[in-house]
Amino acid sequence: MAAKIGFIDTYWKFFNQYYDPDILILRGGARSGKSYSIAEWVTYLFTDLENIEMMVIRKTLPSLRITAYALMLEMMDRFQVKYMHNRTYRFIKNKENGNIIHFQSINNPNDVEKIKSWEGNYVWIEEATDLQYSDFQQISLRMSRKNENIAMRQINGVAKEVKLRNQIYMSFNPIDAFHWIKTEVIDKAGYSFKEHQSSYTNNPYLDEGYIKKLHALENIDKNYYRVYTLGEWGILEGLIYSTDNFVIEPVEFWPKFDKPVCYSLDFGFNHPTVLMELFYNDKEFFIKERIYQEGLTTTDLLKMFKNLNIEIGCPIYADPSRTDIIKEISNNGYNIRATPRLKVIDGIDIVKSHKLHIDSNAVNTIDEIRGYKWRKDKNDKFIDEPVKFRDDAMDAIRYGITGFLSEGNIKAPNNPRPYISGGNIPSFSSSKNIPHL
Ligand SMILES: Nc1ncnc2c1ncn2[C@@H]1O[C@H](COP(=O)(O)OP(=O)(O)OP(=O)(O)O)[C@@H](O)[C@H]1O
Ligand SMILES: [Mg+2]
Repeated sequence: MAAKIGFIDTYWKFFNQYYDPDILILRGGARSGKSYSIAEWVTYLFTDLENIEMMVIRKTLPSLRITAYALMLEMMDRFQVKYMHNRTYRFIKNKENGNIIHFQSINNPNDVEKIKSWEGNYVWIEEATDLQYSDFQQISLRMSRKNENIAMRQINGVAKEVKLRNQIYMSFNPIDAFHWIKTEVIDKAGYSFKEHQSSYTNNPYLDEGYIKKLHALENIDKNYYRVYTLGEWGILEGLIYSTDNFVIEPVEFWPKFDKPVCYSLDFGFNHPTVLMELFYNDKEFFIKERIYQEGLTTTDLLKMFKNLNIEIGCPIYADPSRTDIIKEISNNGYNIRATPRLKVIDGIDIVKSHKLHIDSNAVNTIDEIRGYKWRKDKNDKFIDEPVKFRDDAMDAIRYGITGFLSEGNIKAPNNPRPYISGGNIPSFSSSKNIPHL
């Protein structure tokens, strides 16, 4: 594989130079090219080295599947690697040299057992901030496999033949300066590591629209600006939802539901368009993420509705500011309506008065809810408004819950009521008018 083709220079240099430390820490802002570059490097190792075993890890399997796993398969095709893919046991094997990459979540004791029984040479931990320190310790104990590879590396611009060593690569956004990656690995002297900081400025492949969004963060939230624009360590504070408000769990844990009570929709083009599916039982909402995708036109969206078998009669509560799109979707037979306009804070109050069960496959929603927070004003005081960034699933959930409740849909507990069609939408401007349960 001609590794350097398309490789972002700063990462290429970093991986070359630091072949020696046990851990390479790639901390950076949003879309700085971390994941893509590690995937390229791992592919390079997979094709160029002899007799190696690798593992790509992310906390949950659904999130692993749609990110690092998918990206690695994309790399295999891009670099025309001859490989065999075992979907059941989730590994790929290089047909030419026998090297192996496993894909592994680390979300329960079973997963940890699998890692404990493995011995390897290279590990990539994607979104490493999601892991516990104990998970990381287990992984670092497994890096004991023999590595006899000698390879050329560019060190300070000079090519040199070096004996390679096993390594862990970690990629993440530095959301919390009190995270174990900072306090236990970086700040303490116990590990051999090298850190690379990156931001969108390192990624020449980014589109202008996204760069504008990252710049705009400076005026929206200083902490997010530090984390997502600059790649500096941030502080986790002012979170809107806590684990008192929501639980993340597999749908198998839920009561049996025949049908959703409603869907909810937040429109975007530069932002993701989000469609949520809501179920209801005994004052609690059960939420699935059905669509979370940028760049969708209304025509695309309607096609997706069809493919996803979105129930024609079931109410869809949508962002009230986009009456044009609502009309178009309605003209296609869907039971869509604008959710009543409410102050965001009132909507959040209502959402918070219900426990949310979030499907563990709802990876984007989970990312959002964990970071969704109140804005600060110029004097560094929190105000009654959320930060408008990574909030699309949060908006959609709010539209769904407030819309559903506004129509007086709630009946006796333990008696989830299937959707009703039609119904007038009362207009109200404060949570006091919402039928409380
Ligand atoms: N070497 C490359 N060649 C082509 N495109 C690239 C390359 N590196 C990055 N990109 C583009 O930039 C986008 C963002 O890169 P990437 O996903 O690696 O960022 P990230 O730092 O992992 O972001 P996040 O912190 O949001 O996870 C990719 O989806 C891809 O489109
Ligand atoms: Mg990434």
